[in-house]
Amino acid sequence: MTRPDKMILGALVSPASSHIAGWRMEGALTNVDETFEDVLGVVRAAEDAKFDFAFLADELSMPDAADSILSRDPLAYRFEPLTLLAALAVATKKIGLVVTQSTTYNEPYHIARKLASIDQLSGGRLGWNLVTSYVPEEARNFSRSEHLASVDRYDRAEEFLEVTCGLWDSWDDDAFVVDRKQGLYFDPSKLHRLNHEGKHFSVRGPLNVRRPVQGWPVQVQAGSSEAGRELAGKYAEVTFTAQNTLEAALAFSKDVKARASAYGRSPSSVRIIAGVQPIIGDTMEEAQAKYQELQNSIHPEVGLARLSQLLDYDVTKLPEDAPLPEIPDTENYKSRRALIIEMAKRENLNLGELYRKVVSAYGHRVVVGTPESVTRELAEWFVAGAVDGYIISPGYLPHGLEVFNETVVPALRGLGVLREEYEGTTLREHLGLDRPARGSWTRK
Ligand SMILES: Cc1cc2nc3c(=O)[nH]c(=O)nc-3n(C[C@H](O)[C@H](O)[C@H](O)COP(=O)(O)O)c2cc1C
Repeated sequence: MTRPDKMILGALVSPASSHIAGWRMEGALTNVDETFEDVLGVVRAAEDAKFDFAFLADELSMPDAADSILSRDPLAYRFEPLTLLAALAVATKKIGLVVTQSTTYNEPYHIARKLASIDQLSGGRLGWNLVTSYVPEEARNFSRSEHLASVDRYDRAEEFLEVTCGLWDSWDDDAFVVDRKQGLYFDPSKLHRLNHEGKHFSVRGPLNVRRPVQGWPVQVQAGSSEAGRELAGKYAEVTFTAQNTLEAALAFSKDVKARASAYGRSPSSVRIIAGVQPIIGDTMEEAQAKYQELQNSIHPEVGLARLSQLLDYDVTKLPEDAPLPEIPDTENYKSRRALIIEMAKRENLNLGELYRKVVSAYGHRVVVGTPESVTRELAEWFVAGAVDGYIISPGYLPHGLEVFNETVVPALRGLGVLREEYEGTTLREHLGLDRPARGSWTRK
């Protein structure tokens, strides 16, 4: 498998914008006031620009903060993403649809069945962003007092994936003969019971939904810790990551591809896709002014509370001009936390400067500039082989995506790094990934 010569683009369809204060901008989606048509409009705009996929992120709890802080945070509201995705699947035609589902707070049979159904509904356009959940509060919504340790979450995730792929392989692709004359609904020789007995799961199967159009939905993995990278190297077809410098992105890409090779896979079988928040203006001054308006709209209490969440360490009682204290190791958000601590040290940032820098885009790269400079910066990482593409996470919707589509998309096409048209119909075809044969999943 070779590396695609065109950049992959995903659009984050974040309920209330990807900048933490984006919802406060005039005309921004808020997740509360708009209709399904408004959300569909965003996804259709991404489809018109030939994005490979739209991405719906998810968490299974609201942030843990005092009501006075929570009441200023748009992440207090998250529409259930599979429900939204099912509606988007039938209202769009070509764009891939990637959704987050946690392996820590679900059962494999549920996930296999729901995702197989949505892959059918969408005609083979589904991708599963497998996460192990990093927010400790999620535990308390699922009858547990403690979040599982990182190593245990990833151990469960690996077996979870084995079971879901096994369930998707319950049927040969041509098992359902629907022979009305003979009264034969399916060919019994083409049905396969799973009979899985493992450390975490005991699942007999078979799945009561036919094999997904894509064989298995595209497997996306979004953890960047040691265990996350291992899982990506072993199985992921796409890995999402947050990277802030070209050097770090190159090192990440090299590392994940080396892990894939070590497991006997082609290094280019894992597509590396980084989150990025573009803030675009006609001039550099206009772009900076837009960014400053967003940054100045971050309420300090929300900023410090979100920073505490990302660090898994409470800094809300500290003054903004204090330096970042020594932070103990955590089980919850290893990779993003490490990235933020490293950034604070490298740039010598106090807490106020740090939260403004990282919470705006949840630690993802922010690119502020003119269409030309943003295009140049995005193309640079792609051409250097640090990333295969991006999840575009505009400051706020729909405005940020409209500007990106009108200005940067044609400029990237002008450079020859972005596709002009969809060439296939499934997400696998968009990404240049093979359709897996039934029974080909093996534990590595
Ligand atoms: C682009 C991107 C999107 C992500 N989306 C989600 C998400 O929707 N829900 C979630 O719980 N974690 C999400 N994550 C976080 C990771 O999946 C993972 O849980 C987190 O990085 C902690 O694991 P780690 O320590 O292995 O990195 C995302 C990460 C990236 C880079």
